[in-house]
Amino acid sequence: MHVDIITLFPRFFDGVFLNSILKRAIDAGTLKVNIHNLRDFTTDRHHQADDYRFGGGAGMLLKPEPIFRAFEKAVAHVKPRPLVIYPTPQGIPFDQDCAEELSGQGHLIFICGHYKGVDQRVIERWVDREYSLGDYVLTGGEIAAAAMIDAAVRMIPGVLGDIDSARTDSFQHGMLDCPHYTRPEELEGLSVPGVIMSGHHRNIELWRNAAARFLTKKRRPDLL
Ligand code: ADE
Repeated sequence: MHVDIITLFPRFFDGVFLNSILKRAIDAGTLKVNIHNLRDFTTDRHHQADDYRFGGGAGMLLKPEPIFRAFEKAVAHVKPRPLVIYPTPQGIPFDQDCAEELSGQGHLIFICGHYKGVDQRVIERWVDREYSLGDYVLTGGEIAAAAMIDAAVRMIPGVLGDIDSARTDSFQHGMLDCPHYTRPEELEGLSVPGVIMSGHHRNIELWRNAAARFLTKKRRPDLL
């Protein structure tokens, strides 16, 4: 999968792709990331990428021209046209189904907004999907883009080894995941539920299902 990211803060992604599973995916050639610095697409001598909003009010907006130029560079010669995603609190909620759908795409472009976001004409011209990470406002789209890329890439077949398999994760069966335990069996008076240590696979499976259902009912009844 190719991922292009258009951002005013390219250094934000320094750590994101240098660790753990995303790094492994890059090293394996499964993931290719291109980060485009919006300032490189400004033409004034101050390299200004934001501006005041028409109509007044507090908060700046990312100017449309540098973003248009960045898109023209990132997608002009790419066929089929990549899917373009704009993370925004105004978007539809991003969930596991969205992550799985994105994981099947060959090429994604993320545009990271800042301040009040981007000029609406950027969305009209380029954006296919507007996704929100949740009902809160982040300082910028970078954090949301990183989360969406991570959620999508880990669902690409072969990216997760069996040891970190996604098969039993939360949301995979429409429920939250159950609690898990590892060694030691006893820690400062805290013990592992007996059934987990019983070696009886069927009972362990039943316990995990019941625990997942209990947790989901308590915390996320909307999922059931
Ligand atoms: N940018 C700022 N806040 C956001 C959110 N909640 N989801 C996606 N992008 C955002």
